Amino acid sequence: VFSQIAKAPEDPILGVTVAFNKDSDTSKLNLGVGAYRTEEGKPLVLNVVKQAEQKLVNNPSRIKEYLPIVGLADFNKGSAKLIFGADSPAIQENRVTTVQCLSGTGSLRVGGEFLARHYHEKTIYIPNPTWGNHPKIFTFAGLSVKTYRYYDPTTRGLDFKGLLEDLGNAPSGAIVLLHACAHNPTGVDPTIQQWEEIRQLIRSKALLPFFDSAYQGFASGSLDADAKPVRLFVADGGECFTAQSFAKNMGLYAERVGALSIVCKTSDVASRVESQLKLVIRPMYSSPPLHGASIVSTILNDSDLYNEWTLELKAMADRIISMRTQLLETLKAKGTPGDWTHIIKQIGMFTFTGLNAEQVAFMTKEYHIYMTSDGRISMAGLSSKTIPHLADAMHAAVTT
Ligand code: LMR
Repeated sequence: VFSQIAKAPEDPILGVTVAFNKDSDTSKLNLGVGAYRTEEGKPLVLNVVKQAEQKLVNNPSRIKEYLPIVGLADFNKGSAKLIFGADSPAIQENRVTTVQCLSGTGSLRVGGEFLARHYHEKTIYIPNPTWGNHPKIFTFAGLSVKTYRYYDPTTRGLDFKGLLEDLGNAPSGAIVLLHACAHNPTGVDPTIQQWEEIRQLIRSKALLPFFDSAYQGFASGSLDADAKPVRLFVADGGECFTAQSFAKNMGLYAERVGALSIVCKTSDVASRVESQLKLVIRPMYSSPPLHGASIVSTILNDSDLYNEWTLELKAMADRIISMRTQLLETLKAKGTPGDWTHIIKQIGMFTFTGLNAEQVAFMTKEYHIYMTSDGRISMAGLSSKTIPHLADAMHAAVTT
């Protein structure tokens, strides 16, 4: 019955790893997927994660019963506190409902489906460009997707005027997807003053903010600093959606652990919203998995582990920042034509190099360097040892 089925293309991001795995060259380098690597180029399991897992294994009353539909209560509370701040009035007033979801993607999808069912405006505005999965997630959730201007290729920075114009022209009530920090793929974030202007515009037009927070702690190395934009919106008392992922900041990629939080106007509304979220989740995957959420909850709710986590997180963020300086210095030393200062101006896991699809294909073919065709490189996949190889490839790509 499926003899006529068409072969689907690989995913534009995860497919890069598939191609990388097939390459037998010893100098190959995967800068496609946003996944942290050590200086030795190895995936990292955080020390605090190992300790939390040990604690869980040693707990004699550990069971494997189904979690509630909304997930692990302590995980949900801890996640909300992490993003909104422990002293957030919205939390204290019980106006936040948080449900454990399958990482950031699952949180966006559940939030999207909830909006498609219960919200009067079905259009979501996403930045151009954005993470490649965003338009698919929201389309399949039943929303109609439009874009707003975000990135200016001439300055390799924010197109703030274009952003304000496009959101200013959006219909009242429209949903707006915002990257909480470390915008993917560009590494370009608004300043805090610009965030404040965005907030005023969004509130004055009664737009609905939906934050994707996949990199809290990775942009600046500080969990609180990276949560500032979200907290700015929550502080004004208005509604706000937030999808959180613990893939990057706890290195729990494969555990698929994240949370959707919806800040409502009153606790009564929040509890009704939660009852409807359960109706979205139950037929989709019934209830979320336990293991990853238990790890996160153990770390968030133990002050020693929490403090150690902040140090490990800062070390990851600092290593990425040092990769930026090293890459820029190496390109300068080689005399590679062009202005590459955006490498140190952009933040978070990625640099949006400005290399085009043809140059990327050249670097993959000739240098076995793998990256997404939009020219995005994962700075977290680099090390001092591999920077010269990347710089050689970039130099050749722009001069050949
Ligand atoms: C990325 O953008 O590389 C990450 O968010 C991983 C993914 O799922 O695409």
